[in-house]
Amino acid sequence: MTSRTTDPIDAGRPDGWWRSAVVYQIYPRSFQDSDGDGIGDIPGITRRIDYLADLGVDVLWLSPVYRSPQVDNGYDISDYQDIDPEFGTLADLDALIAAAHERGIKLVMDLVVNHTSDQHPWFVESRDPASAKRDWYIWRPARPGFEPGTPGAEPDRSPAAFAPSAWAYDPTSREYYFALFSAGQPDLNWENPDVRQAVYAMMRWWIDRGIDGFRMDVINLISKPAELTGAAPLDPDGDQLRLRVTNGPRLHEFLQEMNRETGLDEHNLVTVGEMPGSTVETAVLTTDPDRHELNMVFTFEHVRMDRGPGSRLWDFADVPLSALKGNLAHWQDGLADVGWNSLYFDNHDQPRAVSRFGDDSPEHRVNSAKTLGTVLHLHKGTPYVYQGEELGMTNAPLTEIGQYRDISALNVHAAALAAGVPEGEALRFLAARSRDHARTPMQWDAGAHAGFTTGTPWLALNPNYDTINADAARRDPDSVFAHFRKLIALRHESAAVQEGRFQLLLPDHEQLWAFTRSLGDETMLVLANCSSSPVTVPAEGLPDVTGAELLLGTHAAGDAGELAPWESRILRLR
Ligand code: GLC
Repeated sequence: MTSRTTDPIDAGRPDGWWRSAVVYQIYPRSFQDSDGDGIGDIPGITRRIDYLADLGVDVLWLSPVYRSPQVDNGYDISDYQDIDPEFGTLADLDALIAAAHERGIKLVMDLVVNHTSDQHPWFVESRDPASAKRDWYIWRPARPGFEPGTPGAEPDRSPAAFAPSAWAYDPTSREYYFALFSAGQPDLNWENPDVRQAVYAMMRWWIDRGIDGFRMDVINLISKPAELTGAAPLDPDGDQLRLRVTNGPRLHEFLQEMNRETGLDEHNLVTVGEMPGSTVETAVLTTDPDRHELNMVFTFEHVRMDRGPGSRLWDFADVPLSALKGNLAHWQDGLADVGWNSLYFDNHDQPRAVSRFGDDSPEHRVNSAKTLGTVLHLHKGTPYVYQGEELGMTNAPLTEIGQYRDISALNVHAAALAAGVPEGEALRFLAARSRDHARTPMQWDAGAHAGFTTGTPWLALNPNYDTINADAARRDPDSVFAHFRKLIALRHESAAVQEGRFQLLLPDHEQLWAFTRSLGDETMLVLANCSSSPVTVPAEGLPDVTGAELLLGTHAAGDAGELAPWESRILRLR
């Protein structure tokens, strides 16, 4: 238990403050470069703080800026208590926290503690079988009967997320370590209490530095299944560890211990757990305030609906609107009374929402970006805006493997080719779904390199920055930016948007996304045409809109009985 008193680190964080907040995610590498090395950095973020204040967001979440070999762009940390020189210094971070706090904006750090970098001193020490840190990671001998380090000698057949095997070979001790993402990201052994205490001490150090919360990377993978804790034998022919590590047996115990030991609830910090494979049931357990775990989780259900059948990484399919809105409604209903939702379409791991769920053609881009924003922000929960989403930034025109940088894209490409798939098929998948689309640099203006850097950008800009950029958007009262500003302001003003009950209407309609939010005697109706064709508003299945007030629309009030392509309306009913 922490010995700190409650002030001054709790200042500005009243109970439940995050329930009316909007979070803005920054991918520092791609946000704003300040020193001309082509890589975004912390002083660059501070330089843009007034842009963020103007948008009106309450919280900034920074993707990792810690010391890292950058195998997975910082999601492989070699020192949790220092900043990577690419991004600046601890003093730069302190200055950013101060600049944000001065404007009433809070700051959330990414917490990546399922795994470290293989360059972290803990892991470097762990490579020695005699060291006290050996048990801080998960080590296994080669498959029985195989020479360690030879093809097929891995302890089991499970693939990693970004590599063919979840077992990486260490030639020094002639054993394998478990690394679910890549060999550069060995998984920590959370069964070991010293590991947990080291993580909590590090978290307390950040809390004392003045941060306001944590976004917890793949946090539901920390409690490993019996085959990895040693409670059950590992089947050398098994290939399911990647699935079996989610929502492990001690997950909730660990989260409660973390909350207690670091004072997450005591200090009213905001916490969001990234939880692939989480269901409404696991989310209720995790976010029930009485259980003192986390405030909210990121589910993956709605962003994995477009996976093809089977396990081939490069298959994908279109998702009917009824399935997408039905899934969000399932989460709204499931967490209506206990727990809390996070709301997102975009982040640094997803292709751009306007290209994926909207229509990024010049004709429909602006309205579809606004309409996707409207439906998302009018759900109940905490909305997340990912850098550039507020500009309607699109997927980049990527056609060759040489244009990709992401370890995941390169792995999918290699896996597809190894499986004998024609390269065109792999490239078609990447062009639609790669994480690189989210990571092209932020488009600030129409000048050289979009104002992102004076050097050579680490990843090529999307060439459409000449028209899609923050400078143009801020001068245009009808821009996507202007619309997001209004959505954020509406959430701040309206208790019905913050806390109102959600009800999905017309669940089977494949063009219209319609729902109400009600609190007391106030009801709001959201009507959104999520298609590129006009739609007639059905006579049945919707409340009476006579005398309703149009709070925010994509179009000037027109024919009440028809919605133009990607037209949406937020109405307050009388
Ligand atoms: C999370 C991050 C992703 C990263 C992975 C491994 O999913 O969002 O970017 O590659 O964890 O840390």
